[in-house]
Amino acid sequence: MMGDLILRAANDLKNSQHAIVLTGAGMSTESGLRDFRGPKGLWTTNKEAETKAYERYDLFLRDPRAYWEEMLGKEDAHGAFYNDLRKAEPNAGHYALANLEEAGVIKCVITQNIDGLHPKAGSKNVIEFHGSVNKLRCASCGSRSGFEEDAMETLPPLCHCGGFLKLDVVHFKEPIPLDVMGKAEDEVEKCDVMLICGTSAVVYPFAGLPRAARMSHGSGTVIIEVNAEPTPLTNDGISDYLLQGKLGEILPKIVEPVLKRG
Ligand code: APR
Repeated sequence: MMGDLILRAANDLKNSQHAIVLTGAGMSTESGLRDFRGPKGLWTTNKEAETKAYERYDLFLRDPRAYWEEMLGKEDAHGAFYNDLRKAEPNAGHYALANLEEAGVIKCVITQNIDGLHPKAGSKNVIEFHGSVNKLRCASCGSRSGFEEDAMETLPPLCHCGGFLKLDVVHFKEPIPLDVMGKAEDEVEKCDVMLICGTSAVVYPFAGLPRAARMSHGSGTVIIEVNAEPTPLTNDGISDYLLQGKLGEILPKIVEPVLKRG
């Protein structure tokens, strides 16, 4: 069963013209980072942290200094979480996707993850749909820069234009930057295979991307899920099939036949 699905996914990818990959927090649990809604997820186990996450964008708009104190706080659940993200290393799943891109089989990774592990594994064309803990963005002019600890001497950090800098992370209720949304929609429009890895597919607008692909391409797009559990995309018949299990084990098994010579 699983063996057949692995070969089916390998063939679908091999025969694709423009395959893209969509990823979520399930990609990084085998790097020691927690996901959000899995059995040991951040939100599953700490509802207060989830509530605070929903209020974070409002906090930034209301009191940028308090926002930064929370973001940098070592003791605060989220401050510590962000620091863990920066220390994590890619796992076999990230490297498998980087290998597929290097072989020209996949064209792009659109990730919800802010941990920067896809670029760290060598993936080049990565759209960080929810931003990155390694970047800052100006709330006024939109310019981006790298996250430097010493820029945090004075809080809140200011942009050269005088605007307030925030983490280039999209918080709940914060709009996806237009440049990011435009690139993602362009990739979804072009794709004929969409591999969806490690997401519960419940947070919009990201969760709408596979539905948009199905709506605009009908059966012209093959949508494959790799996840520990079925998702609404599985249950609503948006995905063609689900490889249920651990990404760090399954993705390398898909890559092997794809990259095999001959
Ligand atoms: N292999 C396969 N699947 C896994 C693995 C693994 N090693 N580990 C976890 N999963 C699955 C979980 O079972 C779950 O279905 O990955 C999925 C992760 O779902 P979420 O925790 O909801 O993460 P995600 O979908 O990325 O969340 C979306 O919500 O809180 C916001 O901004 C945050 O980007 C995040 C967004």
